[in-house]
Amino acid sequence: MPTLASHPDEVKVLSRRFGLGAANIDKYLELDGYKAAQKAIAEGPEWIINTMKASGLRGRGGAGFPTGMKWSFVPKVSEKPKYILVNGDESEPGTCKDHLIFREDPHSIIEGAMIAGLSVGAKMGFIYLRGEYRYLLNIMEKAVADAYARGFLGKNIFGNQGVDFDVITQTGAGAYEVGEESALMESLEGKRGVPRIRPPFPAVVGLYGGPTIINNAETIANAPHILLMGGEAYAKLGTERNGGTRLFGISGHVERPGVYELPMGYSLRKAIYDVAGGIRGGKQLKAVVPGGASCPVLRADEIDVGLDFDQMAKAGTMLGSGGIVVLDETVSIVEFALRTIRFYQHESCGWCIPCREGTDWIKKTLTRFHAGGGMKKDIDNVQYIAENMLGRTFCPLGDAAAMPTLGFVKKFRSEFEEYLNGVRVASPLIKITPSGAKEHAGAH
Ligand SMILES: Cc1cc2nc3c(=O)[nH]c(=O)nc-3n(C[C@H](O)[C@H](O)[C@H](O)COP(=O)(O)O)c2cc1C
Repeated sequence: MPTLASHPDEVKVLSRRFGLGAANIDKYLELDGYKAAQKAIAEGPEWIINTMKASGLRGRGGAGFPTGMKWSFVPKVSEKPKYILVNGDESEPGTCKDHLIFREDPHSIIEGAMIAGLSVGAKMGFIYLRGEYRYLLNIMEKAVADAYARGFLGKNIFGNQGVDFDVITQTGAGAYEVGEESALMESLEGKRGVPRIRPPFPAVVGLYGGPTIINNAETIANAPHILLMGGEAYAKLGTERNGGTRLFGISGHVERPGVYELPMGYSLRKAIYDVAGGIRGGKQLKAVVPGGASCPVLRADEIDVGLDFDQMAKAGTMLGSGGIVVLDETVSIVEFALRTIRFYQHESCGWCIPCREGTDWIKKTLTRFHAGGGMKKDIDNVQYIAENMLGRTFCPLGDAAAMPTLGFVKKFRSEFEEYLNGVRVASPLIKITPSGAKEHAGAH
């Protein structure tokens, strides 16, 4: 479970109510709660969207799409009802930040969904929680019930005639794929969680065929703060085209793992060595997965880069969902690559062939390779399969599996080659046998 970490370099905007008991509606109100929604009602949709655009907020779910622009794509007039969908599926390995918002500040998610609804004329929001977060559902449902009891949700919210907004909470059944926006809509509609073909995009044809805004929980929870502090002020906290702050979950071999709110563009090196206290036990840094398991790995000599979407793209990787996984010198990259692909192979929904077959072949090859039965051509084969998955699937899960695989093979090729010659990095992780069974491994 992520800790409520703290460091002087943090800029607490989104997390400013964490640890203060803001799940209680009176405490939330005491800490400026629901003021932004009332301001949004008074100022109107255009003001909301302009403020969100000025903030430079980009989606915190992974792809970094500008939020204000996404909201502006929803058609003004629609025969079908419009919806807001909060994505709290949080299943990307290494990512553990939305969970804290649900636990510590659930009303900010309700208020954010309401603001999104007011901006596009949607009268209903769904909050979709990852299946494994079922225990957070109680917190979320209590917050929703308290908001209804005060007249903040339902008909004529805050006493404003004709302004309605309802919220429904829902959990998944524990599938990574339903974090993907179109699979999420299928799942919410009670169908098998597989992706939809796009276009049409959800802003035009989404949930139940109506125009739908889908945003990550952290993205949505930022909206009330932005409306209160002003778009420009929020933008200034970050870098150009990357406004504001972000929750970064720093895990792995660091002294102080935790979730920290840092300005966009903050140095990755400082995040590891200052904020998270450096490498555990005085060991050497080997590599970093900077934004959740699907982001290509960075070597220890590549960490002088700022944590924003553009700088990470320039460095050949992604900011993703903000899950920074730090690997020290004891980690076998061969084993880490295997463990990563095992996740994606298991979670591939099987809907399209390049993803279903590609993840399976890479897993099979790396399992044999890891167990000592590798051949030199396996390294090229793994690269070839991954390259042929890229951009060829209905949803980006295929890319999410291929990109880290390519990163491991390209950046640590010599380690794969040495592995064939019997040179092994002693890994503190779990040993995976050819049959797929797990054994605790010391040095192997
Ligand atoms: C396989 C897969 C899993 C995803 N899982 C999540 C998730 O758990 N949470 C999330 O917010 N976005 C997830 N996404 C991204 C969503 O499809 C979508 O881009 C996001 O919810 C949009 O919100 P944003 O603009 O606020 O980032 C996933 C994407 C893929 C391809």
